[in-house]
Amino acid sequence: MLNFSFCSPTHFEFGKNTEEKTAELIKKFNGSKVLLHYGGGSIKKSGLYDRVIASLNAENIAFVELGGAEPNPIDTLVYAGIELCRKEKVDFVLAVGGGSAIDSAKAIAAGAIYDGDFWDFYSGKYIEKALPVGVILTIAAAGSEGSMNSVITKVDGKFKRGASGEAIRPVFSILNPELTQTLPPYQTAAGAVDIMIHVCERYFSVTEDVSVTDRLCEAILMTMIEETPRVMADPNNYNARANIMWAGTIAHTNLCGVGRGQDWASHGMEHELSAFYGATHGAGLAVISPAWMKFVSRKKPEKFIQFAKRVWNVNTADEGIACFEKFLKAIGMPSSIKEFGAKEEDIPMLAKHIGLTEEYAFGGYVKLNVRDVEEIYRLAL
Ligand code: NZQ
Ligand code: ZN
Repeated sequence: MLNFSFCSPTHFEFGKNTEEKTAELIKKFNGSKVLLHYGGGSIKKSGLYDRVIASLNAENIAFVELGGAEPNPIDTLVYAGIELCRKEKVDFVLAVGGGSAIDSAKAIAAGAIYDGDFWDFYSGKYIEKALPVGVILTIAAAGSEGSMNSVITKVDGKFKRGASGEAIRPVFSILNPELTQTLPPYQTAAGAVDIMIHVCERYFSVTEDVSVTDRLCEAILMTMIEETPRVMADPNNYNARANIMWAGTIAHTNLCGVGRGQDWASHGMEHELSAFYGATHGAGLAVISPAWMKFVSRKKPEKFIQFAKRVWNVNTADEGIACFEKFLKAIGMPSSIKEFGAKEEDIPMLAKHIGLTEEYAFGGYVKLNVRDVEEIYRLAL
């Protein structure tokens, strides 16, 4: 096992009606002027918006609001949020929604107290300081409610890039599984895939003798395999929603990824599909990840045999991957990048846009150069 530091101080408030504690938690973390940040309107439709406002008003917490964070959130709204925070002297950012609203809130929180352009953080600069961020989560998927990451798309040039820093790990996250019952089935399924691939990015590692994190990864994957069909069959199944919601959080706090090398090539390849075709992140992963598995398992089958045996109860790497593909199909996920609008002739551009070359490679389990990535996109056609 490799040396590691792990500090995950987010306060999680989990269960029914927990959003009622919003104002109490903001006060606990010293917020006095809040930016309420959310997405395209699902929180208004569900009534959550009204309940949050009522909670803030009841405790006399001043706030300003900014809605409109799009799925695959964009830099232009982040700039608007930064300006608003500075003008209104905001000292706390509350994100209500999914990964997109949360990531946009994190970018605003970091940018509001940074002298330079916030995009510096999405070009490799570590985030040292940010306004505190609190979360009310409405979809189990990205894990941003417990992660130190944020992913934003720069509209000019279509660069979807990540930033990280302990400062943007939420100070609190309210997780009420009931809030996810209004999700369309496609979003529920895409969220489940994202959770599973956050685990796979860590599971497929070259670090040996890491049985505790291997077993944690397998437990999360097996839970998702059991619970996702239950929730697809009955969207109001509270316990299935609850198991998935907590799985999504622990999949991405890095609890199951410490002390081991990680991969992340599937995420890198998927981000191009979101940036160029607007693919829903989890749905993009449902296509890219099996293609990646087929490509790398030929070169290094060991971990895939363990995956097949322990997670899917079959014997060979190919059988394990086939089981995963069957699962993805059963929950209604796409199986070709053509379904997002990608064409074969786009592939060299997609691979090049990641920034890879013959020499510069990415991926931790198997290093992939630009040619390998093109082949994986072709396998995903
Ligand atoms: O915008 P609204 O109207 O709220 O609608 C959203 C959106 O259309 C809707 N939705 C969310 N909760 C709902 C709901 N509809 C009905 N009922 C509810 N309870 O679902 C759609 C998707 O929301 P979004 O926030 O985009 O979903 P998700 O949580 O999957 O976030 C995706 C973003 O997170 C990034 C992705 O790349 C993508 O940009 N990621 C962030 C990570 C991180 N920060 O650590 C890691 C991930 O790997 C991922 O890259
Ligand atoms: Zn993801």
